[in-house]
Amino acid sequence: MVDGTSRTTAQPPSRLVKGDELTGHSVVANSTMNRERVLAGGNSYTRELGFTPTEFLNSDDHGPAPSWLDLCSGEGLALREAAQRLPRASITGVDLVGPLLRTALPEGLELITADLGRWSPRRRYDLVTCVHGLHYIGDRLALLERAATWLTGTGLLVAHFDPSTLRRPDGSDASRPVLAALRAAGFHYSARHHRLSLQGGRPITLPFTYLGADPHAGPNYTGQPAVASYYGPVGPGGLRAASG
Ligand SMILES: C[S@@+](CC[C@H](N)C(=O)[O-])C[C@H]1O[C@@H](n2cnc3c(N)ncnc32)[C@H](O)[C@@H]1O
Repeated sequence: MVDGTSRTTAQPPSRLVKGDELTGHSVVANSTMNRERVLAGGNSYTRELGFTPTEFLNSDDHGPAPSWLDLCSGEGLALREAAQRLPRASITGVDLVGPLLRTALPEGLELITADLGRWSPRRRYDLVTCVHGLHYIGDRLALLERAATWLTGTGLLVAHFDPSTLRRPDGSDASRPVLAALRAAGFHYSARHHRLSLQGGRPITLPFTYLGADPHAGPNYTGQPAVASYYGPVGPGGLRAASG
């Protein structure tokens, strides 16, 4: 069923999509989604993350020049505020859709327009966040694996994560084995807040093969249409499918 309606029964879509076909889909490249969270207040990173990023970065653990990488950064409004408050910080935002606001960026902030299925940083960060972005990433487990290596030894990764949008090849719920593998790799998952976190960078290998994504899966817990990601077991010889 690839007709734009929600799927309620365990049934795989007739076709899974990947790569540019997924990132070009209106559910993913959608400028009407909530991309304008600010640092603090009602529609904010502080509210969604459960802590204030600038306070975290300001702690003695991260030295005088802390660093923050925000995945799926949207308009980057929270990052602009943080860069103004922490002039010695290095802050990077990455989003598929560049910021519509074209005013000059504060010192220390870069906003990169790129597909996170392909982009990688050249350095490590004290804080890596993904505020309601993984819902739109096809191979979100590969992104989590890669992001775990982008953290410093004392760094913190926090990302919103909806296990109910992880599917097996037959369309059934893959949340239990995926959460078990993430926990075994060192992640903590708060079901109440739909937040996945990892303290300390490390190499991680999750035992799943990405098969593709369904952009017609319907709304997730946020109420917004999201992408369902399909995974099978690791293939013969431990090979994984290409990301996308
Ligand atoms: C719900 S918005 C959240 C934006 C921001 N974190 C906020 O809270 O204001 C999700 C963002 O994910 C971005 N996104 C979706 N797929 C992406 C991809 N493959 N690579 C990078 N960004 C992506 C979208 O462009 C969108 O800006």
